[in-house]
Amino acid sequence: MFTIITGAQFGDEGKGKIVDMLASQYDIVARFQGGDNAGHTVVAEGKTYKLHLIPSGVLFDARLLIGPGTVMNPKILMDEIAMLAENGVEVTPSRLGIDAKTSIIMPYHVALDTLRESKRAVKIGTTSRGIGFAYIDKVGRDEIQMADIADENRFRKRLLEIAPQKENAIKELGGDMKIARSEVDEYIEIGKKLKPYITDVSKEINLALKHGKNILAEGAQGTHLDIIHGTQKFVTSSSTVAGSACASLGVGPKKVDKVIGVIKAYITRVGEGPLPTEQKNEVGEHLREKGREFGTTTGRPRRCGWFDLPLAGKSINLNGYTGLALTKLDVLSGLNPLKLCIGYEIDGKQLDYPPELSDDIARCKPIYIDLPGWKEDISGAESFQNLPENARLYIELLEELMGVEIEYVSVGPGRKQTFMK
Ligand code: GDP
Ligand code: IMO
Ligand code: MG
Repeated sequence: MFTIITGAQFGDEGKGKIVDMLASQYDIVARFQGGDNAGHTVVAEGKTYKLHLIPSGVLFDARLLIGPGTVMNPKILMDEIAMLAENGVEVTPSRLGIDAKTSIIMPYHVALDTLRESKRAVKIGTTSRGIGFAYIDKVGRDEIQMADIADENRFRKRLLEIAPQKENAIKELGGDMKIARSEVDEYIEIGKKLKPYITDVSKEINLALKHGKNILAEGAQGTHLDIIHGTQKFVTSSSTVAGSACASLGVGPKKVDKVIGVIKAYITRVGEGPLPTEQKNEVGEHLREKGREFGTTTGRPRRCGWFDLPLAGKSINLNGYTGLALTKLDVLSGLNPLKLCIGYEIDGKQLDYPPELSDDIARCKPIYIDLPGWKEDISGAESFQNLPENARLYIELLEELMGVEIEYVSVGPGRKQTFMK
């Protein structure tokens, strides 16, 4: 079985939690895009793990893979392996495989990301992790790959070729040119340590599928941050939709069995860009405080708003979801009425699907319907029947309006706080 999980909104939907919940049923959990801009939280046995690169199946026995479509900062990976070891989780080469072709994030990518962002008149609000610049080098065929840092001679030769160009780029943005040739020895040391982890991800997954094994592809970021279909320019630099898992992991599309979208019971966004239902008021405060909506990677406060059906509808199209996991329903407790955005008004017209361009989305005025809220704390609910009537109505209405089954409902960060609908 091959299952793909993606974020259906702007990231931070709770993918880490849902992947952890499903991981025991899978033999392989693989990351297919993005890098350490991702921050996936897993709360288990009283501990909170914030994972940036290692797939969220790490607390189970599944084999973990980092695919060639990702951009990987090896220093962050080493820190993560060390953090897990301190918590008694050994990430040995038999547990984790990194594709030989995985793009490496170099110190100059991080520097260029920060410098470029500081010069932008209209900011994107990137995570400053060098993600965009690492992908530029992939497309520009100037990337350094996992296999390069594992081979000192190759790495040095490759850097000699690339560094002058990076020096110029850094100089042009007013940065310190020395960054272009910095930390080379550290990267070689890490390359030696990571060499045993190198694998061919596509080959492993296809072989596993042939043997009837179960594979879970873990998306990072969210659908509307997709580089092709998202709210450009306020997007990340990779393709975050489900189809990207096939292309990036090297698995044919006919192998896909399930596509699960993780979606919050409201919406959040971190960084700049349109968010039609954003609530810059006490409702937004309620969602941010109760939902602890602060970035896992950067600590920035997340912008919060009501559930946006037009955006959800587009997400369903872009991913072809076969089922949804609705998260953070508990955060809505105490809000009354609840508002649900069922469409937009723009230039005197009503829309039930987002316009293509970000500028137009930003001009859209949400059309809301009011729904009755509930006061009860639902974080202990163990089944759909356990929920207050108005919470059940909210779920059922969402399901009906989206036309996709809500398979899982999450009412808190912990493992026990999820049930099947
Ligand atoms: P991801 O990037 O999609 O993996 O999501 P993050 O981990 O960045 O952010 C989700 C946050 O919400 C984390 O702190 C989770 O522990 C937490 N969380 C996940 N599901 C729920 C839920 O149902 N209720 C509440 N209150 N918190 C949740
Ligand atoms: P997870 O996997 C939420 C956002 C940044 C910024 C934009 C571009 O935890 O859901 P980048 O550094 O990727 O060039 O930044 O994308 N962003 C995320 N927002 N969750 C994430 O990951 C994100 N990764 C990037 O805030 O707006
Ligand atoms: Mg996150």
